[in-house]
Amino acid sequence: MKLHGTMKIDNNQLLIGGVSVEQLRAEYGTPLYIIDQKHFVDKAKIFLDNFRSKKFQTHISYASKAFSNLYILGLAKELGLFLDVVSGGELYTALKAGYDPEKISLHGNNKLPDELEMALTNNVGKIIVDHRTEYTLLSGLAARKQKKIKVLLRVNPGITADTHAYIQTTKEDSKFGMSISDPATFLLIQDMSSDPWLELEGIHCHIGSQILNKDFFFEEAALMFSFARKLLDDYSIKLSEVNLGGGFGVYYTKADQPFNYAEFLAEYIEKIEELVTKLDLSIKIVSIEPGRSLINSSGSTLYTVGAVKQPYQGKPFVFVDGGMTDNPRPALYQAEYEACLANRMEDEPADNYRIAGKCCETGDILIHDIALPKAEPGDLLLIPGTGAYNYAMSSNYNRIPRPAVVFVEDGQSYLAVKRETYEDLIRNDQAYL
Ligand code: LLP
Repeated sequence: MKLHGTMKIDNNQLLIGGVSVEQLRAEYGTPLYIIDQKHFVDKAKIFLDNFRSKKFQTHISYASKAFSNLYILGLAKELGLFLDVVSGGELYTALKAGYDPEKISLHGNNKLPDELEMALTNNVGKIIVDHRTEYTLLSGLAARKQKKIKVLLRVNPGITADTHAYIQTTKEDSKFGMSISDPATFLLIQDMSSDPWLELEGIHCHIGSQILNKDFFFEEAALMFSFARKLLDDYSIKLSEVNLGGGFGVYYTKADQPFNYAEFLAEYIEKIEELVTKLDLSIKIVSIEPGRSLINSSGSTLYTVGAVKQPYQGKPFVFVDGGMTDNPRPALYQAEYEACLANRMEDEPADNYRIAGKCCETGDILIHDIALPKAEPGDLLLIPGTGAYNYAMSSNYNRIPRPAVVFVEDGQSYLAVKRETYEDLIRNDQAYL
């Protein structure tokens, strides 16, 4: 298993942020999401330090859908990251974390009237408009509130990035944004740019997630800036911002070979600067919205092994005390992970196992084939690389409470989200009378 961030082995035990995971189990129980705080900060700094330009401002916007709670947003705010939210709930969390609303942008393909109203009331920096119906709704709301709002239009440059179909977002039949080839898009942009209540600052796109080939991002930039030029040439519409979204791929297993972010970001900036110069555009802000690449490798999930079961046929199962409720990604996207027995780090592999969760679902398998030392009930099983879209997509299926989230750094641990209780599970239930 690859050791991420501050992971260390000491006396056959795994430590993260200088804390042994055995100690974390004793203090917080399992399943437990563990976040390596220093590793997250280091990742954020790679983005902040390398995506910089002398020609235009650069905004690094943390895509909070990857992992959102008061603690991480407090940290992101302190680091100077902008923030992307995609629902009223994410916006609420950001505001409660004390985020400067000016640094927040609201996304979504079907923003509800209440969500748009909430964004306007709280003066969010920008709204990324997805389609005409939303534009009409937003313009009406802004007029009613007598409040001007800065917007970008989400456009679709028609790139089919090489990633899981469920996380491709710019195929021509995608539900997101407006195609750059569709005449309706030009009509919409003209209307938006002349609307008295909207300030059309620019265009946005996000081509998908977990993309490991950087050429897709270069292609995206070329298409987006050429589109900006076309708007200037054909409609005299001058944009000041281009937001290129997120999607930078990460390491889950040896099959993934992510590009080096520092090198990529510097190259990305260089290519963008070239485009801006060549196309003679007066772009003031270029934004990106990394989620997974900022948080994923900082996060791990710690489980306790319940039983090791040899079925009549097939590989033995290691049963853990969580599963698809804390990590639905294997069931949803056939996602693959590495794992280790965190209390037997230096023991030799003894068998090939399947790691199965405790839900009543045949598909609740976290890993289909992994070599591990001989597993016993009570062992600690850790799956790294679960920082993004795990806690964020967790559920209470089978009425399983969500795990706690703990941050670790320099030998200390900080509880960020309490473990749910059974009482929490019935909090909104109304009894049958
Ligand atoms: N910006 C927009 C508009 C997005 O829709 C997304 C992700 C991002 C930025 C951040 O993308 P990232 O850098 O994290 O790849 N649940 C799926 C991932 C869904 C991503 C949705 N949009 C998964 O677990 O793989």
